[in-house]
Amino acid sequence: MAELQILEFPDPRLRTVAQPVTVYDADLQGLVADMLRTMYTANGIGLAATQVDRHVRLLVLDVSESRDQPREYINPEIISREGEQVCEEGCLSVPGVYANVERAEHIRIRARDRHGIEFEEDASGLHAVCLQHEMDHLEGRLFVDYLSPLKRQMVRKRLAKQRRQAVQESAVGPAL
Ligand code: NI
Repeated sequence: MAELQILEFPDPRLRTVAQPVTVYDADLQGLVADMLRTMYTANGIGLAATQVDRHVRLLVLDVSESRDQPREYINPEIISREGEQVCEEGCLSVPGVYANVERAEHIRIRARDRHGIEFEEDASGLHAVCLQHEMDHLEGRLFVDYLSPLKRQMVRKRLAKQRRQAVQESAVGPAL
């Protein structure tokens, strides 16, 4: 299993619309395993293939407290939605930024697992938020798109500053 590099906003590749999965082979199963490993290492609760520059309709998540319930959703579709909730969201592709986003409170989803077996599932609360957030990634949408243009501009500047600082710190090298 390999750890994958996570693209960060405003990388234009995050705007790619993902293609449906048609082949359920060893490559796909390897990608699911690599994405789960990458998600757990980064302490995320969800990860979409778009974020690791693989533009297929696949997402993984684990919203359990114990972090031992990995799930994959391939070619996911929301078949019904009900109610609304506002949750403070973050994203591995927008590090250090959190903002309130309104989403459906309950959804019913249809998807396939890594073997191509179709299933339907009801999701509520954080599970529903996470699925909607990751499915947005597959459409090339980010949670910061729901913010005002001014706030989004602030996010862009803050991330650029964080990256400059990271470069400077690594240029200094280890203190001896
Ligand atoms: Ni995200």
